[in-house]
Amino acid sequence: MTNNATRYDRVQVVLHWLIAGIILFMIGLGLYMIELPKQSELPPGEESVRAFYFLLHKSMGITVAMLIVLRVVWRLTHKAPPLPDTVSKWQQKAAGAVHVLLYFVMIAMPISGFMQSMFSKYDTKFWGIVLPRIAEADNGMRESFSQVHECLAFLFIGLIVIHLAAAIKHRLSGTEITDRMSLRKDNT
Ligand code: HEM
Ligand code: HEM
Repeated sequence: MTNNATRYDRVQVVLHWLIAGIILFMIGLGLYMIELPKQSELPPGEESVRAFYFLLHKSMGITVAMLIVLRVVWRLTHKAPPLPDTVSKWQQKAAGAVHVLLYFVMIAMPISGFMQSMFSKYDTKFWGIVLPRIAEADNGMRESFSQVHECLAFLFIGLIVIHLAAAIKHRLSGTEITDRMSLRKDNT
């Protein structure tokens, strides 16, 4: 039985799973919506749903960005519980590196998405509210940020696969590492 000091606190656990769920949904939504036909590609009379999903993606993206800011501030003011000595030094370093990269992509992803949206000719709406423009529409800049957003998406997927593989490995080898971020346990 592990004690409280060996687990992440309740706020970190809840934010981890809330953000992870939204991010997985956002990646699926992003990859799905870019394949949808534009209005100009459809026969007359048929309405494109592309704009609806783009608006949903942008609103959810800005929402998760706020949760990520909260998480980063909380994490900077609350330490992670130290890993037990049973986890080798190289594994501790590798986990630390993957976590830092995950935080980096969590921050860079919404910023690059927001910037490509700002440089596009379309308004950026947050759950229906039109956000003020911080830049004039510029197709070249939109395209650059779009490429950054896309590259980061694939980096994100790669990091999540590594992170998930490590969690499964710990689970299968019977260590209590995954309990540190478990929702079921009392993490108060
Ligand atoms: C953690 C948050 C986010 C995740 C995980 C995410 C993920 C993705 C993914 C996987 C794609 C499809 C691949 C691509 O072409 O880039 C995509 C596209 C897109 N995202 Fe995001 N996104 C996030 C935040 C945002 C935000 C905050 C905005 C804008 C306010 C945004 C705007 C867009 C747009 C406009 C596209 C379409 C790009 C195109 O047409 O080429 N994203 N996103
Ligand atoms: C999909 C997006 C995900 C993101 C962005 C993410 C991000 C992170 C980050 C940054 C940490 C380090 C926490 C810190 O020290 O501040 C962490 C820890 C952890 N994550 Fe995730 N995670 C995701 C999904 C998952 C999934 C699907 C699982 C398991 C099935 C998982 C299991 C864990 C566990 C067990 C820890 C604690 C590791 C330890 O004790 O050192 N995560 N996650």
